Amino acid sequence: MIQEPPVSPFDFGSTVNQVKFTNRSKDLSRLKANMAAGINTILISPRRWGKSSLVEQAALELRAERRHARVVILDLFACDTFEEFLQDLSREVINASSSKWQERVQNAKSFFKVITPRITIGSELEGQVSLGFDWHEACRHVGEILDLAERIAEAKNIRMVVCLDEFQNMANWKEDLRMQKLMRAHWQRHKHVTYVIYGSKRHMMATLFDDSASPFYRFGDIIWLQRIAVEHWTPFIVERFKSTGKSIAPELASALALTMGCHSWYVQQLAHFTWTLTRKKADPEALEAALQLVMDANTPLYQLTCETLSGSAINLLKAIANGEHQLTSAEVMRTYRIGTPRNVTKTRDTLESRDIIERTESGYAFLDPGFELWFKRKFLGKKVAIMEG
Ligand SMILES: Nc1ncnc2c1ncn2[C@@H]1O[C@H](COP(=O)(O)OP(=O)(O)O)[C@@H](O)[C@H]1O
Ligand SMILES: [Mg+2]
Repeated sequence: MIQEPPVSPFDFGSTVNQVKFTNRSKDLSRLKANMAAGINTILISPRRWGKSSLVEQAALELRAERRHARVVILDLFACDTFEEFLQDLSREVINASSSKWQERVQNAKSFFKVITPRITIGSELEGQVSLGFDWHEACRHVGEILDLAERIAEAKNIRMVVCLDEFQNMANWKEDLRMQKLMRAHWQRHKHVTYVIYGSKRHMMATLFDDSASPFYRFGDIIWLQRIAVEHWTPFIVERFKSTGKSIAPELASALALTMGCHSWYVQQLAHFTWTLTRKKADPEALEAALQLVMDANTPLYQLTCETLSGSAINLLKAIANGEHQLTSAEVMRTYRIGTPRNVTKTRDTLESRDIIERTESGYAFLDPGFELWFKRKFLGKKVAIMEG
């Protein structure tokens, strides 16, 4: 009999939930409580720290716990224009409005008063209803689309939760400021809909929600999602190994998480490769080799990033990689040939706005732990090091 190889207990290709989801219990209960209570939430973190996974997990639990809750998740990454967004939003809201397709069609007909949408019923995804609009008509009555969720939720006495992923993408729309004002004006009056808005571009998200000049200022509770701490990663990794009949010592599991700076996506990736290279019990050699695999898998991406950087940006990164704190001191500027204090500030701000570096208590640090390891090896000749657990 041929035995199927066991499936990896780690996952870094998609969002994770249930057993592959660890910790975040405080964020999870805060988000869930907000969703249920009608408090809008803004969730911000660098990419791949776990925003989408967190929202999905909260949605899953909320649906199970509250019969009257309906959660809609929309990724704005796929919406290039405001029209596309409105179309996708109304489709998702209609599909969440009922589990029966006949009722969905009915809702699509009865909840639009001025606009007459074209209604199509998908054949592949059974009973999924799509809506099309005549844009001349729809543009004059955008409010009707923006209020659709509220009107349905109110009439049916349900709580709608509308989750908008990668929200900062909206900045690519034409006339985005006018659209923002419209959305805010309508959404802030909604009593039966809660909005969860999240995104990875931290500068843009902060400007959107934390700047008194922005239409979305004070729109909701802002959560700055943190890294999952090593205390939580260690038992998670140990347990996941155990679930497939393999094992890893807690010290090595901690070392694994710390090597990747506790970055959710990288930790899962390194854990996956370590697990793959382990027959029974993981050892430091397997971890070392797995790290090499992580580096290899991501090298094209890192190279691409470097190609878009100026010479002085690379030099500045070298200084940061070497642990320099005083970037504008005469000595650092001379050693790394990064020009005048003015240049340094400009380069630094660019790197920060591109989410390559972040400000820390003591200076600046790389945001992407994989890129940092790779960069140190390539530009400083430093061997990739496994952290002590
Ligand atoms: N709570 C978690 N527990 C374990 N792994 C997680 C968790 N959240 C995220 N991850 C890992 O990080 C990856 C990226 O998560 P994702 O939710 O897509 O991040 P984001 O939306 O912030 O970009 C996931 O594929 C998974 O490997
Ligand atoms: Mg995401």
